[in-house]
Amino acid sequence: MVNDILIEAKDLSVYFPVTKGIIRQRRIAEIKAVDAVSFFIRRGETLGLVGESGCGKTTLGRTLMQLIRPSSGEVFFEGENLCRLKEDELRPIRQRMQIIFQDPFDSLDPRMSAGEIVAEPLRVHQKIKGKRLREQVGELFKVVGLDPAMSGRYPHQFSGGQRQRLGIARAIAIRPKFIVCDEPISALDVSIQAQIINLLEDLQTEFNLTYLFIAHDLSVVRHISHRVAVMYLGKIVEIADRDALYRSAKHPYTIALLSAVPIPDPYVESTRERIILKGEPPSPMALPPGCNFHPRCPIGVEVCQREIPLLREVEENHWVACHLV
Ligand SMILES: Nc1ncnc2c1ncn2[C@@H]1O[C@H](COP(=O)(O)OP(=O)(O)O)[C@@H](O)[C@H]1O
Ligand SMILES: [Mg+2]
Repeated sequence: MVNDILIEAKDLSVYFPVTKGIIRQRRIAEIKAVDAVSFFIRRGETLGLVGESGCGKTTLGRTLMQLIRPSSGEVFFEGENLCRLKEDELRPIRQRMQIIFQDPFDSLDPRMSAGEIVAEPLRVHQKIKGKRLREQVGELFKVVGLDPAMSGRYPHQFSGGQRQRLGIARAIAIRPKFIVCDEPISALDVSIQAQIINLLEDLQTEFNLTYLFIAHDLSVVRHISHRVAVMYLGKIVEIADRDALYRSAKHPYTIALLSAVPIPDPYVESTRERIILKGEPPSPMALPPGCNFHPRCPIGVEVCQREIPLLREVEENHWVACHLV
């Protein structure tokens, strides 16, 4: 089914309190890490999520999995509202959602062998043991392109790319449906990045996986994404089918990001005009009134300083939050 939605966020917000004082903590401000975000991901689809560091990508990914509970709004997974569920009710659902981290070094226990790392979810959640466990672990090693003979080694004995493969093997061990890939190739050599992307694509086809693929630049998600969402200071400012976004981006922020992406054509590349955004993004603790982007926007007008633009469908499946589009 083309329109079969696996996961959906409705008006999702995550505010982190900023406190002062050691003994009696006072709440002095709020960081709006994710601010009234709505979107969905279809079954078997990859949604690329792009934005500068600190714009809320990781928080959004973790909130979809309910590793962070939202301040308001809802997350529907296979039609069920996860925000209403208690921790023990969430446990079986969390097994269907996994996360792959930027640096698996931080997420893989250094004292466990590679084999134990991949075996753990099978042992704990599916009570598999003995010969069957060893066979399944060996199978998973092969599926992610690792030699099962390496299962006695420890994470520090693997290269960065191999470690990421190990993290992927662990993530897919209990056959999840949805995987948040949180900048999974940002820490890898360029030569290895394409291999990991290809592996993720192969696994998606083989296991009918759905991905939220997070990256901080648009060139990384181009190949793997079916649709792309662009985030700026806690909000999705544009979301569209991949080709529509790269061919005819509409939000001035997306256009600026795209102008920084190298184009694999020498003529186009020589005439490419880079748009340099003024200044840094404002602090998420003190957002400007109106559109979050207006202080840096090259085309902003008066209304942008006053009114928050809503995400609107301006062409079929192409949503933009800008007063001027
Ligand atoms: N646990 C937390 N407590 C307080 N602030 C946080 C926490 N996690 C993230 N933040 C803040 O929320 C904002 C978004 O962070 P994050 O989701 O990590 O962004 P990204 O992944 O896009 O770099 C940042 O300003 C960050 O400092
Ligand atoms: Mg992050």
